[in-house]
Amino acid sequence: MKKENKSKMNLSQEDFGLVQSMLSQRVGISLASGKEYLVVNRLSPLVDTFNFDSLHGLIQTLYSGNNVRLWDEVVDVLAVHETFFFRDQAPFQQLEREILPAICNESEKAGREIRIWSAGASTGQEAYSIAMLISEIAPHLCKRVQIIGSDVSSKVLQSAADGVYRKFEVSRGVSQDRLDRYFEPHDGAWRVKQSLREMVQWKKFSLAGTWPTLPSFDLVFIRNVMVYFKPETREALLNRIAPVMRPGGRLVVGSAESLMSYQHPFQLVSSMNATYYTRSNG
Ligand SMILES: C[S@@+](CC[C@H](N)C(=O)[O-])C[C@H]1O[C@@H](n2cnc3c(N)ncnc32)[C@H](O)[C@@H]1O
Repeated sequence: MKKENKSKMNLSQEDFGLVQSMLSQRVGISLASGKEYLVVNRLSPLVDTFNFDSLHGLIQTLYSGNNVRLWDEVVDVLAVHETFFFRDQAPFQQLEREILPAICNESEKAGREIRIWSAGASTGQEAYSIAMLISEIAPHLCKRVQIIGSDVSSKVLQSAADGVYRKFEVSRGVSQDRLDRYFEPHDGAWRVKQSLREMVQWKKFSLAGTWPTLPSFDLVFIRNVMVYFKPETREALLNRIAPVMRPGGRLVVGSAESLMSYQHPFQLVSSMNATYYTRSNG
C-alpha cells in the first residue's frame, strides 16, 4: 500500500520541468531546480481532492489548460503568501512621513482622487496598512482614495476581502491603538472595520498575464513579489507598471528587490532608512 502510494506521488524530471515552465510562462514564478520535494508535498493533497490517479495525471491535466479551478489551486499552493501588517516598518514610516503627505498634498491641489495599487497583495495586510495610514494622515481624504489590492490567487483575495485576521496575525504589526480603532472582534478573531474595508477593492489577475484596465496610480506597492520572478520577467513588469502610474508617481519595492540591474524609467530616492522610486515625468 505504501509502495503504491509512493509511485502514485512520483514526480518525474519531465513532469517537474512541465510545472516549472507552466509557472514561469503563466504567472512568472521561477521555481528553481532542487524544489521537486516542494512540488510533491504541495501538489500531492490535490491528487485526491481532484480525484486523479497520480501526480502525473494531475500535471498532464494542468498542462492541457482545461481545468481552471485546478490551476488556481496549484498556483495558490505553490506561491509564497507570507505577509504581515506594516511589514519591515521602515518603508511604512517613510510612507507615513514623506510619501503619503506629498501625495495627499498633490491630490488636494489638483482636486483629484488618490489611487494606490498593492500588487501581489496576498491576504491584504499591506493594503489595509496603507489604508490605516491614510485614515490617520488625511481622514478627510479617505472617501477620495481608491486602493486596489491584486493577486493571482483567488483564495488569498477572498480572505483579504473578508478582512478577518487571527490574533497572531494582528499581533504581527498592529499596535493596540490601531487594533481598537480599525478592528472589531469577530468569532475569536479580529475583523477590519467596514470603513477601512471600503477603501480597498480586490482584483484577481496575474502580473505576468493580461491586466484589466487600471487607473493612473499615484503610488504602487509591489513588495516581495518580483523576488520570485526571473530577471527578464522583472524588467518587463517594471516597464508595464510605469505606464499605469502618474508622471512623478512613487513605486515601492521589497527590501531585497533592487531595480539596479534593469532598464526602467524610475529614479531611486533614499530617505529615512528606506528607498522608493519615482516615475520620471513625461
Ligand atoms: C510574499 S507575498 C507578498 C505580500 C505583500 N506584498 C508583502 O510584501 O507583504 C507575494 C504575493 O504575490 C502573489 N503573486 C505571485 N505571483 C504573482 C503574479 N504573477 N501575479 C499576481 N500576484 C502574484 C502571490 O500569490 C502572493 O500572495
